[in-house]
Amino acid sequence: MLHLAFETSCDDTSIALMEDDRLLQMVTRSQITEHLATQGVVPEVAARLHAHVIFEVLDEVLTAGKVTLSDIKYIDCTSEPGLLPSLLVGKTVAKTLARALDIPLHWIHHIEGHIFANLLERKVDDLIFPAVVLTVSWGHNEIYLWKSLYEWELLGQTRDDAAGEAFDKVAKAMWLGFPGGPIVAKYASEYTGVYQHLFPVPLLETESLDFSFSGLKSAVRREIETRRATHWGILPEHDLQEIAFEFEQAIVSVLVTKLNRAAKKMGVSTIMLAGWVSANDFLRLSLDSLSKTEGYHFFAPVKKVYSMDNAAMIGVRGYYESTRFAKI
Ligand code: KG4
Ligand code: ZN
Repeated sequence: MLHLAFETSCDDTSIALMEDDRLLQMVTRSQITEHLATQGVVPEVAARLHAHVIFEVLDEVLTAGKVTLSDIKYIDCTSEPGLLPSLLVGKTVAKTLARALDIPLHWIHHIEGHIFANLLERKVDDLIFPAVVLTVSWGHNEIYLWKSLYEWELLGQTRDDAAGEAFDKVAKAMWLGFPGGPIVAKYASEYTGVYQHLFPVPLLETESLDFSFSGLKSAVRREIETRRATHWGILPEHDLQEIAFEFEQAIVSVLVTKLNRAAKKMGVSTIMLAGWVSANDFLRLSLDSLSKTEGYHFFAPVKKVYSMDNAAMIGVRGYYESTRFAKI
């Protein structure tokens, strides 16, 4: 059954054409260049840009899929969380289409979409439940126990910043641009020295599955300011690489330790990654090697594009919503 999925929660206008759980076509228009001047997303500006391109993106998807709106049997759309003005653009278009075509509309939670991205190009039976899932994005940093397809429970969450936000703030403090995650990761990968534990690794209380990155972020900022003062205000390339590397090691070490702690505490043998920070190579490699030593099954979205904000993850979550009651 053909369905259309919409994702406009932040600064990507993404629409996917799906056949059940299978992605047929997807067009995603990023606004990164437009937000460079402000080094961050201004919600009002993002919403205007979504409104400007959304019908163009829709036409492209339909044309590429060689279908018309009358072939579409239902619609899925991100409802929350996200930037309210941005969400409103996608929601208005999705609701108008569903009304005009007289077809069902599924409101999808963005983070559930990120989690279900693990089902793109996989079947439910490929995943091994129960699993502990680490959601790492700009606004979310949580660990869930995913008990079965429609059943999950929150185990831990951040008490301040999420990992993506910490990456972005560190990049901003180093004047490296926006969005910070991929840039910091690139500088970190260029560093050739050894890990010296320059920054704190905030693990909180012994049993805790919560996160707190504000202390780590402040320690990185202080280090940047100290080094800048001794370099006439400009950090040399080597220092940028070293700080990025030390920060990435510290934050990934927290994420990996907590997910391992959660798996042990819950007695499960499947660990899973979701959210755009799951595109981070060092995080994926670290979880991969943890799974080898601990004997876990490790799942992450099969393509980096499925880790990013994308409409396919909303579509696959929508598909499983449409089959939810049929399967019971
Ligand atoms: O999933 P997302 O769009 O946020 C929410 O839905 O809340 O994640 C965006 C975040 C940004 O902070 C970005 O810097 C970060 O994901 N990010 C990365 C990488 N790619 C994107 N962080 C670390 N390493 C990456 N390769
Ligand atoms: Zn996201």
